Amino acid sequence: MLVSAKEMLNKAREGKYAVGQFNINNLEWTKAILLTAQECNSPVILGVSEGAGKYMCGYKTVVGMVKGMIEELNITVPVALHLDHGSFEGAKACINAGFSSVMFDGSHYSIEENIAKTTELVNACNVLGLSLEAEVGSIGGEEDGVIGAGECADPDECKAIADLGVTMLAAGIGNIHGKYPENWAGLSFETLAAVKEKVGDMPLVLHGGTGIPADMIKKAISLGVAKINVNTECQLAFQAATREYIEAGKDQQGKGFDPRKLLAPGFEAIKATVKEKMELFGSIGKA
Ligand code: 13P
Repeated sequence: MLVSAKEMLNKAREGKYAVGQFNINNLEWTKAILLTAQECNSPVILGVSEGAGKYMCGYKTVVGMVKGMIEELNITVPVALHLDHGSFEGAKACINAGFSSVMFDGSHYSIEENIAKTTELVNACNVLGLSLEAEVGSIGGEEDGVIGAGECADPDECKAIADLGVTMLAAGIGNIHGKYPENWAGLSFETLAAVKEKVGDMPLVLHGGTGIPADMIKKAISLGVAKINVNTECQLAFQAATREYIEAGKDQQGKGFDPRKLLAPGFEAIKATVKEKMELFGSIGKA
């Protein structure tokens, strides 16, 4: 069964750990993340970008695949299926398709429009018991063709959005999607502390979880971060393992690669990456 992310994130915030959001792109990624969560007895959030949703034939297909896997793999840990960086239309489509959680990224709108659109989604999610993530201050880097500048959020704007009744809030604190550049200034803990001061107990979300040093992750968790998103690191691990397999040239005597064997090393690499992150975030054994 899919669950809203609300309870798992409130528990994480109280227990001073974070739940990982790992983005899915296909069956292998989904299976690897679900099995690792079960083996680690950890709650987990499956993130789906709009691009990945389209790639996997649409949101209804994603819901069907994930629900089917939870049942057939006997997954008993809490699993939330969450739209990542959704548009307003995308969020509504995922709510209708059966997602248990959505993010509406209104950070590129004026704060007034962000508030108006977020309010509408708060009402829809409340009626259906779904969790809703809102964003203030855009996250840097590029994701699905959208490029953000890596802003630091205005704490007063964070409070205005948090007060609407969202479940969790992504506040830009100098974090970036993808690899961090050599000259990256690091996370702005000053901003994070100021946001926390304004929003109180609201679970905070840290995007761009790839490549943030462990000490910064721990400090962010101590300042109210309860959800950390990871995508690029799984992608890099998957790529390296798949490349190694292909370069070893073990195809089947001229019949080409067996597709299941071809994807197996990448699958194992994702499992290892997810486990490592769950250890770092402190979510192991917290299901
Ligand atoms: P990375 O790709 O940097 O791990 O970030 C993922 C993310 O924040 C998804 O929203």
